[in-house]
Amino acid sequence: MEYRMVEQTRPGGLLAQVYREVLVPAFPANELESEQSIAETLEIGAGSLFVAVGEAGRPAGAAFGRWSEASRVQMLVYLAVDPGTRGHGLGGRLLREALGTWSERYRPCAVVAEIETPEARIVHEAYGDPRRRLQFYEAAGARVLDLPYFQPGIGGPEHRVQEMLLLVLHADPSFTPQSPDRLSGASLRAFMEAYLEGSEGRRAEDWDAKALFKAMERPGGIPMGPWSGEKR
Ligand SMILES: CC(C)(COP(=O)(O)OP(=O)(O)OC[C@H]1O[C@@H](n2cnc3c(N)ncnc32)[C@H](O)[C@@H]1OP(=O)(O)O)[C@@H](O)C(=O)NCCC(=O)NCCS
Repeated sequence: MEYRMVEQTRPGGLLAQVYREVLVPAFPANELESEQSIAETLEIGAGSLFVAVGEAGRPAGAAFGRWSEASRVQMLVYLAVDPGTRGHGLGGRLLREALGTWSERYRPCAVVAEIETPEARIVHEAYGDPRRRLQFYEAAGARVLDLPYFQPGIGGPEHRVQEMLLLVLHADPSFTPQSPDRLSGASLRAFMEAYLEGSEGRRAEDWDAKALFKAMERPGGIPMGPWSGEKR
C-alpha cells in the first residue's frame, strides 16, 4: 500500500479522525491528552501533525509534535502506526519526515520523546511492545537520558506515569557544549518546568519533581546513551 505524508499545523483537517482511529487505540488513557488540547496547541501555532494517509484516504499512522519556543525544545508527543500496519517501515518514515521538518523549521536545541521503560510489567498488544519500541527509537539514533523521569500527570500530579524514559532524538551541538554525550541541563529544566505546569495545572514542587530537576542540573550536563538496563 502507498502512503501519502501530509502535515497539518492548524486544527480541523484530519485531527478528529487521527485522534479517534490512530491515537486512542495506541495509547493508554492516562498517557493520551485530549483532542481539545492537541487542537489548542495547533491553534496557537505550536503544533505539527504528520499523517500517513492510505489509498482509501484513511490515516494509518501519525506523529504529533509540540514546540516550546521559550526553551527551544521540540517534543515528539505521539507517534503511532495502526497495529495491522506495524513493522513495514511506516513508523520510521513518519519519524524521519517529522524530525527533518522540525529540525529545519525550528532549529531546536533538542527534540525529545518519552517512552515506557522496556521493563514495563504489563505489555498490552495494542499499545505495542516496550522493548521493540525502544529498539525502534535506538535504531533511529535516539539516546536515553540518565534521569529519574516520569511523564507529567495529565490533569494533575496524581496522574503521573512513573518509570518512563526521556529520549533525545536530535541535539544541536550548542546543547552539548561539554561533550557530545552530555546534554546541557538548563534548557531542559526550563522545558520540564513548563511541561509539568502545563499538564498538571500547577508548579511542580514535590520530591519527585525536585529529584528530576536536580538530576538535570548535574555539573557537566546530563549523560545520554544507549539504554543500560539499569534503573534510573
Ligand atoms: C513504535 C511504532 C510507531 C513503530 O512503527 P512501525 O511502523 O511498526 O515501525 P517500522 O516498521 O518503521 O520499524 C520497525 C521497528 O519498529 C518496532 N516495532 C514493530 N512493531 C512493534 C510493536 N508492535 N510494538 C513496538 N515496536 C514495534 C521494532 O523495533 C521494529 O523493528 P524490528 O522489525 O527489527 O523488530 C509502532 O509500533 C506503534 O505505533 N506502537 C504503538 C504506539 C507507540 O508505542 N508509540 C511510541 C511512543 S510515542
